[in-house]
Amino acid sequence: MFGEAARTLGNLLPWAISTDDGTFWLPRKGSEFAAQVDFNFNLVYWISVFFFALVTFLMVFFAIRYRQRPGHEPEKSSSHNTPLEILWSVIPTLIVIGLFWSGYKAYLNMTVPPQNTYEVLVTGQKWNWLFTYPNGYIDANLHVPVDTPVKLTMTSEDVIHSFFVPDFRIKRDVIPGRYTRLWFTAIETGDYDILCTEYCGTNHWSMLSKLVVHERAEFDSWLAEASDFLSKMPPAEAGEMLYNMRGCKQCHSVDGTPGIGPSFLGKFGSEEPLLTGETVLVEENYIRESILDPQAKIVAGYDPVMPTYQGRLKDEEITAIIEYMKTLSEQ
Ligand code: CUA
Repeated sequence: MFGEAARTLGNLLPWAISTDDGTFWLPRKGSEFAAQVDFNFNLVYWISVFFFALVTFLMVFFAIRYRQRPGHEPEKSSSHNTPLEILWSVIPTLIVIGLFWSGYKAYLNMTVPPQNTYEVLVTGQKWNWLFTYPNGYIDANLHVPVDTPVKLTMTSEDVIHSFFVPDFRIKRDVIPGRYTRLWFTAIETGDYDILCTEYCGTNHWSMLSKLVVHERAEFDSWLAEASDFLSKMPPAEAGEMLYNMRGCKQCHSVDGTPGIGPSFLGKFGSEEPLLTGETVLVEENYIRESILDPQAKIVAGYDPVMPTYQGRLKDEEITAIIEYMKTLSEQ
């Protein structure tokens, strides 16, 4: 317990900043920006600590020194002191200008990407992230090579989301009908968390992905391997991968639990009541229609909230998902 307290105290100090787990205030450093952002944070933090201590000390000191007591006559004091007033105006002004300069430099650096970046397209939608690589491959996680400037061009399919990687100190809103940009250079291989940090509806909390940083050579082989999964796997297995990767699982369970949408368990071949009062047989064409035009036939008890996958799933991918759903009805 003593060791824990000492460690926490140690982490409060600005020089204890480069452990694997980060410090008490800040997570570990995953990108080149982290050092700059942390420097600015620590600067503001320690200036605040210094003035808090100074003001508190003087307040207590004066309260004791000039307290009311028997035989003590109040002394006459001057109404103002010009040198002192100039001093306490100029010093804070210089501090504020210094903070602005340091922060603005870091902000510009984070805003303007260098040339020759590796570009990945980011799509936010309720409730997952999709990452499109230069060869057209789409993944649910962001994979990047280490020590390489990466640029993200981001947009949303529906509402405002916000792309946030705490370890990289990068965050920017992802907005429908507009493109926003981010760039970074990863400094160490490993897995990092991606969060959505703008409340975007019921399952906002589940809008999580991984940022995976690879060695340069390993990245190229990962991309080649990953892009080719449809031709290498039985369709049902590829369908399961797509289910996990493309955002199906955020709303459709495979264990019978109803979510935002109906569970996939035992659905294929069943008859489902629709909002309109009709019933529908869940077979290949109905599933295909529900993926491409989700609002066409809503199952009773659910809201029309699913985004369309028109143009974002290829025919063979839709087939693979249908094959996967069949395996969930074969018990
Ligand atoms: Cu997307 Cu919160």
